[in-house]
Amino acid sequence: MREGQATAIHRADYTAPAYWIDTVELVFDLDPAKTRVLNKMRLRRNGDVAPQALRLDGEELNLARVLVNGQGTSFKMDGNQLVLENLPEGPEAFDLEIFTTCNPAKNTKLMGLYVSNDSFFTQCEAEGFRRITYFLDRPDVMASYTVTLRADKAKYPVLLSNGNLVEEGALDDGRHFAKWVDPHKKPCYLFALVAGQLVAREQRIRSRAGKDHLLQVFVRPGDLDKTEHAMNSLMASVAWDEARFGLPLDLERFMIVATSDFNMGAMENKGLNIFNTKYVLANQATATDADFSNIESVVGHEYFHNWTGNRVTCQDWFQLSLKEGLTVFRDQEFSQDLAGSPSARAVKRIEDVRVLRTAQFPEDAGPMAHPVRPDSYIEINNFYTVTIYEKGAEVVRMMQTLVGRDGFAQGMKLYFERHDGQAVTCDDFAQAIADANPQSDLARLLPQFKRWYSQAGTPRLHASGQYDAAARSYTLSLTQSCAPTPGQAIKDPFVIPVNLGLLDAQGQALPLQLAHWNQAESGTRTFVLTEASETLTFVNVDSAPVPSILRDFSAPVVLDYAYTDTELLTLLAHDNDPFNRWEAGQRLALARALKAITSDSDLANSPVLDEAYLDAMRQVLADPALDAAFKELVLTLPSETYLAEQLDVVDPQRIHAVREAMREQLATALQTQWQQAWEDNRDTGGYQPDPVSSGRRALAGLALTQLCVAARRSGDTVWPGKAFQRFKDAANMTDRFNALSALVISGHELAAPALSRFHALFKNEALVIDKWFSLQAGAPDHGGHVLPAVRQLMNHPDFNLRNPNRARSVIFSFCSANPGAFHRSDAAGYVFWADRVIELDAINPQVAARLARALDRWKKLAEPYRSAAREAIARVAAKADLSNDVREVVTRALAD
Ligand code: PHE
Ligand code: ZN
Repeated sequence: MREGQATAIHRADYTAPAYWIDTVELVFDLDPAKTRVLNKMRLRRNGDVAPQALRLDGEELNLARVLVNGQGTSFKMDGNQLVLENLPEGPEAFDLEIFTTCNPAKNTKLMGLYVSNDSFFTQCEAEGFRRITYFLDRPDVMASYTVTLRADKAKYPVLLSNGNLVEEGALDDGRHFAKWVDPHKKPCYLFALVAGQLVAREQRIRSRAGKDHLLQVFVRPGDLDKTEHAMNSLMASVAWDEARFGLPLDLERFMIVATSDFNMGAMENKGLNIFNTKYVLANQATATDADFSNIESVVGHEYFHNWTGNRVTCQDWFQLSLKEGLTVFRDQEFSQDLAGSPSARAVKRIEDVRVLRTAQFPEDAGPMAHPVRPDSYIEINNFYTVTIYEKGAEVVRMMQTLVGRDGFAQGMKLYFERHDGQAVTCDDFAQAIADANPQSDLARLLPQFKRWYSQAGTPRLHASGQYDAAARSYTLSLTQSCAPTPGQAIKDPFVIPVNLGLLDAQGQALPLQLAHWNQAESGTRTFVLTEASETLTFVNVDSAPVPSILRDFSAPVVLDYAYTDTELLTLLAHDNDPFNRWEAGQRLALARALKAITSDSDLANSPVLDEAYLDAMRQVLADPALDAAFKELVLTLPSETYLAEQLDVVDPQRIHAVREAMREQLATALQTQWQQAWEDNRDTGGYQPDPVSSGRRALAGLALTQLCVAARRSGDTVWPGKAFQRFKDAANMTDRFNALSALVISGHELAAPALSRFHALFKNEALVIDKWFSLQAGAPDHGGHVLPAVRQLMNHPDFNLRNPNRARSVIFSFCSANPGAFHRSDAAGYVFWADRVIELDAINPQVAARLARALDRWKKLAEPYRSAAREAIARVAAKADLSNDVREVVTRALAD
């Protein structure tokens, strides 16, 4: 009812547009309740397509006038489309003028033109431009834009759009105008305008090529002191893309604008990126190290889209990963390159893989599983997923692995030579990388490699090794498989690059020599698995090796190898691949956790962790050669979500109890080492968000939490007291928030006064208040206390369901990020979830649909959770007037 019918759109149905739009002139009279939009387009028929009516998309628009070549014309409406049948015949261009109005103040979906804090913003990707004017709202229609903005000068002193400002001036009645011309053709999803009371940090830069540019970061007055890091990140991004890929900034002016009402992280509109404040605003008093590093990534990401997305865009939305997977890969590489040391690079890699495994692997195994290039969708907004983004980035990373770093840069060069200014497909990209590297494994295996684009699901790589002492040979058997996903019962083998090294029992690297090689190689080698099963036979192996498989996580697969504890301890202590070192520690913890979860042992009397594990962790903490950031990652237990993914039947309460027991044991048994870690790392000097000092803060923070957890056990008050003191004295938000978290996580009574003090200190800092909400909604559950607390938080005067950041900070932190609290045996968590999905859907379907996905994995749940979850989903699905967004998610969840 609120949307058009929910019909699936299929990739195979793509046809070229029947018309091209060459130029667009837009004139906006901005008014919150009634904005007038005059849209003059120059169109021509696409001669490659049979003559047909022009069908323009529009949504929630009031149509006042349609003129063709200046004359009135007949038109009709077909659902949301404006249909023009009597257009001039023949190939000549003609003018089409459309006058509409819309209501930005009532736009709670935050798609199209909307008002936030008395300013105007737009969001057009994927299909928001049709909420601004009638248009061919599809990415393969690229036009030149001239935009005039008119608005009250006192209320909206700053008027921005894409490209260059060519004219501005006063109008009568206290109004003014600005005219912008974008020198680059673009699809309408990259259109943007901003109008409001904003101030800018400005920076002039000169590129390597000698061109001058103006960089601006616009924020609300009062936030300028939080823009330095975003500006530094932007300058670093410009320099990096030129240095690593030879891609320069192609605009005189590059603007970033922050808004506190935004559905996603940020948007790459040409020359006018619009950001969620969360990914712009930071200073040491209000933002944590994680915030600083996210800002660096997101600023980089949006900037890199200027080439990968904007200069070369997507033919249709099925190709979304063409720009997103590639751009995530680029932002990951950017952050790694900035991080510098091999250890800091590995830390970034581990963090990225953790996201992939805790969010994308479950997606790939659940009802919303889809290929990196989907074949159909009902609502494109539901396909801005971790599969498109993070798995897409892994696919690009594998290409780089197969052609080498230089080969990949050559491939990128060819991609732009071929496709600059075009709207293309994932096939075009892969072809360019392969063609630039004709001798590579990628070129040789391209059709098979592209199964990564067409087949959903996470492959499992099963490995087993056999040492033959007499023959001094070692055989490694690799077998791949991939479980069915919705609509794909059978999978063909993937191309899996396996980075491999062998260690001896003492942890020394062994040279690698396949039977047919004349000589041995040292270090890591990439073996490319293409068959369902393959065997690698190594010769001249002096002793039984410990294999280090999938180094640096060379493919997005699940690796099954029956490692013994001894082998894992060897890898943890000695592997020279830091990723697999960390991985060995995780496997040790995982094995213990799974054993305890699947047994019915009484956790109070039978400890989950044994001395061997605890001792290995002690050694990691005490190792002077390891970075603090790396230690913090090793000492962090696998998440409850990750543990759940390893099981066929999930009892979330058992998982929660086991993980809490492990945390407590680790806290108590390593108390001396935690104290040492705290003492060694608590002071990082003046605040700098660099990897070394942020790693030290992270380790100090974990140590403090563990010391408070141990104190809860022993009744000791010293460490909670120290945490409270640290909370009060901290010179930066990272230390302050870590201290607050230590009190909240350990459930100490000082948490309450600390929380109220924190609120009082930061009541005017929306992003900090988000943290305050999120910490409480995400706190470890003790006897079911979190849900009532969440209900109370929703009654707090600062809570606002309409603001996506705030809604996420409470509702998502509880439903999606706190399994131990959410999955209650009384089903109250699910009832809460269903109520919120329905409530949010009436305001903002995109946000509601994301929340709807919190129960994606309900089929794995043990009873009574499973039935209760199904009932909650069915209750949502039974609502008559759901958005397409939520309808698609719950329908897929309930399908068999
Ligand atoms: N294209 C944006 C990005 O990833 C994400 C986005 C999608 C933002 C849709 C808003 C709406 O960079
Ligand atoms: Zn993106």
